[in-house]
Amino acid sequence: MAKRILRKVSIGLGAFAVITAGAAVGTYVWARSAAAAKLSTRHDAHTADFAIPFPLAPDDAARVQTAGGDPKRVALEQAVARGKHLLAARYACQECHGANFGGGKMIDDPAIGTVLGPNLTAGRGGRTQSYTAADWDRIVRHGIKPDGTAAVMPSEDFARMSDQELSDIIAYIRSVPAVDNEVPAPVMGPLGSVLLALGKIPLSAETIADHRRAHAALPPEDGPTLELGAHLAATCTGCHGPNLSGGPVAGGDPSWPPAANLTPHTAGLADWSEADFVRSMREGVSRDGRMLRDPMSKVTPWTSKMTANELKALWMHLRAQPAVSTGVR
Ligand code: HEC
Ligand code: HEC
Repeated sequence: MAKRILRKVSIGLGAFAVITAGAAVGTYVWARSAAAAKLSTRHDAHTADFAIPFPLAPDDAARVQTAGGDPKRVALEQAVARGKHLLAARYACQECHGANFGGGKMIDDPAIGTVLGPNLTAGRGGRTQSYTAADWDRIVRHGIKPDGTAAVMPSEDFARMSDQELSDIIAYIRSVPAVDNEVPAPVMGPLGSVLLALGKIPLSAETIADHRRAHAALPPEDGPTLELGAHLAATCTGCHGPNLSGGPVAGGDPSWPPAANLTPHTAGLADWSEADFVRSMREGVSRDGRMLRDPMSKVTPWTSKMTANELKALWMHLRAQPAVSTGVR
């Protein structure tokens, strides 16, 4: 989720202190050209294709037709409704592109730079009017812009999104009112250039290992299954660790508490019931009623919008993990 950006930036601040203690001027000269080179390098990815909106399954289309409805219109309505939910509960596009998708802020700091989320609507300054499905795939799941250069947008969190989820998000974005707003391209400050050059502001186009791996066409079905739980938990591992055992958030803001151990270990959620977990995701509180702190408090506004099935699936996934001591990988 978007908070990971802060994590990335705070890793960089440490690096900056080290660098300024050394040969600062030489470093800047090097960093400026190294960062510019990174941002102008072209990256290659596969060409994905999927329908927008996603069509109804043949059986459903036949049923709608028999009932006198229009399968295309129903497909669009369903896609927009699903997209709206995905944006509220799973994928934080609006954190950076604005609640109305007309543009927003990712980083605005004189030293690091001004990195704004562009306008994604059909209004003046909107970037996506001429986007094909392949263009959407490249930017969202690979971090590569239509001209082949790397975007300063964290696409790792979206790399495992299915075609249908992406298509649904696009259908929703296309349904919102056009906003006129020209958003300037990212400008890196001196520190931002150093961080980019050192890879401390990672570019997804570089960190996503395989730009040719096929994407799943459909997300796991909306039911309380381990498969759905694993899909949803992909957005938790960035902070709670690949095996969800928690510990200090790698490179996190020093003021953050360690991420909780979410495995069934006694130091983790061994004593928790499903009801405790659901309450914690809906109300942002721990089992004993204590308010969860930043950054988890920034995550629960999303989890609070998850459906009962989604929360149950996440819980099943947590329960299926081996019990591991906190922070042990
Ligand atoms: C943490 C902030 C952040 C999040 C979250 C985010 N974006 Fe972005 N996005 C950006 C930034 C910054 C750029 C501009 C990148 C650049 O020009 O280098 C961008 C660029 C884009 C573009 C390309 C615009 C162009 O220049 O052609 C599209 C499309 C886009 N984002 C869609 C999405 C969608 C869809 C999501 C959610 C699935 C999303 N973004 C989530 C920050 C974000
Ligand atoms: C940005 C980092 C981050 C992300 C992403 C994140 N968490 Fe957390 N989470 C934390 C931190 C840090 C804590 C500890 C908060 C505290 O102690 O107040 C925490 C605490 C929790 C707790 C409370 C445990 C307890 O013992 O009180 C639960 C449950 C939890 N997270 C579940 C999740 C789930 C499920 C997801 C994914 C949907 C998730 N978290 C995503 C950082 C994160």
